[in-house]
Amino acid sequence: MTLIDPNKIPRHVAVIMDGNGRWAKKRGINRFLGHEKGTEAVREIVRTSREIGIQWLTLYAFSEENWKRSKLEIQALMKLLKRFLKGELKEMQENGIRIQTIGRTHKLPDNTRKILLETIEKTASNKDMVLTLALSYGGRQEIADAIRKIATRIEEGGISANDISEQLISKFMYMPDMPEPDLLIRTSGEYRVSNFLLWQIAYTEIHVTPTLWPDFGKEEYLAAIQDFQGRERRFGACI
Ligand code: FPP
Repeated sequence: MTLIDPNKIPRHVAVIMDGNGRWAKKRGINRFLGHEKGTEAVREIVRTSREIGIQWLTLYAFSEENWKRSKLEIQALMKLLKRFLKGELKEMQENGIRIQTIGRTHKLPDNTRKILLETIEKTASNKDMVLTLALSYGGRQEIADAIRKIATRIEEGGISANDISEQLISKFMYMPDMPEPDLLIRTSGEYRVSNFLLWQIAYTEIHVTPTLWPDFGKEEYLAAIQDFQGRERRFGACI
């Protein structure tokens, strides 16, 4: 059993869930089954996060780049997302979990968007944990969208170029109230951030594990948090 310090729980954990395809390939089965097993891992990580008192959990569920995958794979991922949202609603309500999204979600198929919006609405008053699903998300796209909004404000005369500061830019991100992640976990052993939360991870601690996402369970999650708890965070200052 991994022991974690209840007084040093990261406020916000973000996860790059990678390796569903490789997990399936290793078993000689269709990659869709990897995504299906990956959805079970999502359930376990959401449940564990709530149990240990994490307030914000952000999952990279579908990147802007994922639109380049086959139509069939995209359909399978959307189907799993819808099934997850419908299947978990009761538990989310019971556990006070609020759902929100970041990304260019207007690009998602109508029926997926409909279920997403319903879930967001139904869970809106939940207060114990925020589960943010990054869907059709890209960090550079988020920054580009923010710059466009800022430029529009300048054109309208609401602000001037001199008002641009880090704080102002943060206010134009998709979810300005979301704190920056304390811990970013990436599965499947790649040392990349893959266009995830680029603006927000400036001082985030990164934990990379070789485990493929469908095999990432509670024990390993707790071990990642334990690893985080042993880090010394200086935010650029000296000790
Ligand atoms: C990476 O595996 C994972 C994804 C493309 C998205 C993650 C999706 C899920 C875990 C399932 C649905 C999500 C929710 C929130 C219910 P990969 O296909 O890139 O793996 P590979 O690099 O091994 O091919």
